[in-house]
Amino acid sequence: MNIRPRRNRLNEVIRSMVRETTLHPSNLIAPLFVIDGKNQKIPVKSMPNQNRLSIDNIILEAKELYSLGVRTVALFPAIDESLKTHDAQESYNPEGLNARSIRALKEALPEMMIMGDVALDPYSSDGHDGIVDPKTGEILNDTSLEILAKQALCEAQAGVDIIGPSDMMDGRVGFIRDALDESGFHNKLIMSYTAKYASGYYGPFRDALDSAPKKGDKKTYQMDPANGTEALREAALDEAEGADILMVKPGLPYLDIIYRLKQSFTLPIAAYNVSGEYAMVMAAAQNGWIDHDKVVLETLMSFRRAGADIILTYHAKDAARLLNL
Ligand code: PBG
Repeated sequence: MNIRPRRNRLNEVIRSMVRETTLHPSNLIAPLFVIDGKNQKIPVKSMPNQNRLSIDNIILEAKELYSLGVRTVALFPAIDESLKTHDAQESYNPEGLNARSIRALKEALPEMMIMGDVALDPYSSDGHDGIVDPKTGEILNDTSLEILAKQALCEAQAGVDIIGPSDMMDGRVGFIRDALDESGFHNKLIMSYTAKYASGYYGPFRDALDSAPKKGDKKTYQMDPANGTEALREAALDEAEGADILMVKPGLPYLDIIYRLKQSFTLPIAAYNVSGEYAMVMAAAQNGWIDHDKVVLETLMSFRRAGADIILTYHAKDAARLLNL
């Protein structure tokens, strides 16, 4: 036998020399849930170690993440039920929780990049990402665009660095890009949720924000899990509309989509390792059924190997700690 692949695995020196993929805290974005109030830290039951934090605690958490090398956070506000309306007008309130949290974090930690979510579900009494036609129940695409653009502008004015449209309305990247540029915000990035699937893996997130749809599901705007080629179509549109980064969501069940987008596009690719994926790992780890640290790093590495430049993950802090060891 003259060919022995195991020779290149002989010890850590050679293994680290031939390693094809890297993983650094700088690849990670930490999603954080924000609530109103002071010194609040309310656990999300279905997401062990994840909390809804008031703005003062968001700042502390962000500082810790930054010191570990995680230099971008994605903020998701949990809006009080009393502020949710059919037209989701709280989504662009300059004094609302979302804008206040962006402003406060930017002021406290200007070097941290902040990603803002653009979608109406946390603010909508219907729990949908767009405006619902009261008669037919249809999610109204073009009507929603106007509100999403207002939300993006509100976040830009508050000091957000990256706009993350997670709503899956048609044409929203171009519509938001135009709105930003017209107001002089040409330097705000857009990380588009390009291929966002109608997934069962979002359950714990909807618990965290209390944002589940009141009626129906999201299948008329989020993608069918059976489709891969359609993701290329969405990606081509987002690229043409001016997206800076393309995201695939969820992550693990869609590694093939990450790979296909990476092969076909020159834009950076992000993967969202979503709440349900996090919950599964944490549940198994808490039961002692898997090794938490190993599985977390292996999972994140798999996104990088598939072609993701960026990973949004609730494991960000733990992973950064492990990577800094
Ligand atoms: C909605 C939104 C969702 C997530 C991020 N933005 C859920 C949904 O579409 O219902 C899910 C993130 C996660 O599960 O971690 N705009």
